[in-house]
Amino acid sequence: MDRGSLVERLGVADGLLSMLTDRIDASLLDRAPNLRIVANHAVGVDNIDLAACRRRGIAVGNTPDVLTDSTADLAFGLVLAASRRLQEGIEHVRSGAWGPWSPDLLLGHDVTRSTLGIVGFGRVGQAVATRALGFDMEVLYVSRNAKSDAAGRLGATRVGLDECLRRSDHVVVAVPLNEETRGLIGSEQLAAMKATANLVNIARGPVVDTEALYEALHTGQIRCAGLDVTDPEPFPADHPLALLPNCTIVPHIGSATVRTRTAMADMAVDNLIAFFAGEPMPSRIV
Ligand code: NAP
Ligand code: GLV
Ligand code: GLV
Repeated sequence: MDRGSLVERLGVADGLLSMLTDRIDASLLDRAPNLRIVANHAVGVDNIDLAACRRRGIAVGNTPDVLTDSTADLAFGLVLAASRRLQEGIEHVRSGAWGPWSPDLLLGHDVTRSTLGIVGFGRVGQAVATRALGFDMEVLYVSRNAKSDAAGRLGATRVGLDECLRRSDHVVVAVPLNEETRGLIGSEQLAAMKATANLVNIARGPVVDTEALYEALHTGQIRCAGLDVTDPEPFPADHPLALLPNCTIVPHIGSATVRTRTAMADMAVDNLIAFFAGEPMPSRIV
C-alpha cells in the first residue's frame, strides 16, 4: 500500500498488518486515532517507532522463529555464492566467454574448514552456525550477552568485533537495526578484515555503510560480499556497488520460501486475532 492509501485507511482502522517497508512513525500514528495494534509481517521491527507505539498504548507484534531457517539458508547461500564466484560464473556462461576448461578459471576461496564470524548471535545467527557445522568451520561470534549454552552446543567462540573481523574468512551480519548497529560495519571495520574475506549481510542494509563497502570491494581491501539487504532498498541497478563482479546482491529474499512466508502471514494474522480476542499474542514486542 502506498503511504497515501495507508494514511487514509488508518483513519478508521483498529489494527494494521504492516510490511517491513511501511514506516510506522509518530506522524502516521497521529493520523490513526483508532489504532490499537500493529502486526508486522517480519521479525525485524526497525520500521516501527516502538516508543511512539508504547506511548500511545498500541501493541506491536512480529514473526520470529518461523523464518529463522529460511533466512539462515539464504545467508549460507550467499556465503557460498560470493566466495565461489557463482555470479561471475553464470555471467561467464551467459556471455559466451566459456572456453576450454582451465585450472585457474574463476578461483575463489574455500568455505569448508575456513573461519566464520557471526555478528549478532541470535536466532538467525545461531542457525547460520548450525549450518557451519557441516562445513567443518571454526565459528566466532559477537554479541553483547554471552549465550554460552548455544555457543557450547555449536562449538562457537565469543570474541570482540575487531577480533572477529580480523580472524574471519566469512563474516555474516545478523543483528537487528537500531541506533547502536546503524553503520556498525564501516570503513574502519572493513579495513580490519582480511584481503581475502567475504562479507554477507542478511540483517538490514544500514548496518553496513554502502559507500565504504563499495570502496573496500573496488580497491580489493576485501575479496567479496553477498547482500540480501541494502541501503537503500530497492537498490539502484546502476549503483557502482551493484555493478561490481565481486558483489552478489539479491532483493531481500531471506525468508522468501512458500512455507516460510505462509507461516509469517499466519503468525501476523494470529497476532491480530489473539489481540482482539484478549488472548496472549504469539509474538508481542510492545
Ligand atoms: P534475534 O534473535 O533478536 O537476534 C539478534 C541478535 O543480535 C541478538 O541475539 C542480540 O544479542 C544481537 N545483537 C543486538 N545488538 C547487537 C550489537 N550491537 N552487537 C552485537 N550483537 C547484537 O533476531 P533474529 O530473529 O536472529 O533476527 C535478527 C535480524 O535479522 C532481524 O532484526 C532482522 O532485521 C534481520 N532479518 C532479516 C531477514 C531477511 O529476510 N534478510 C530475515 C530475518 C531477520 P545480544 O542482545 O546479546 O547482543
Ligand atoms: C525480514 O527481513 C524480517 O525482518 O522478517
Ligand atoms: C573435476 O571435475 C574433477 O573431476 O576433478
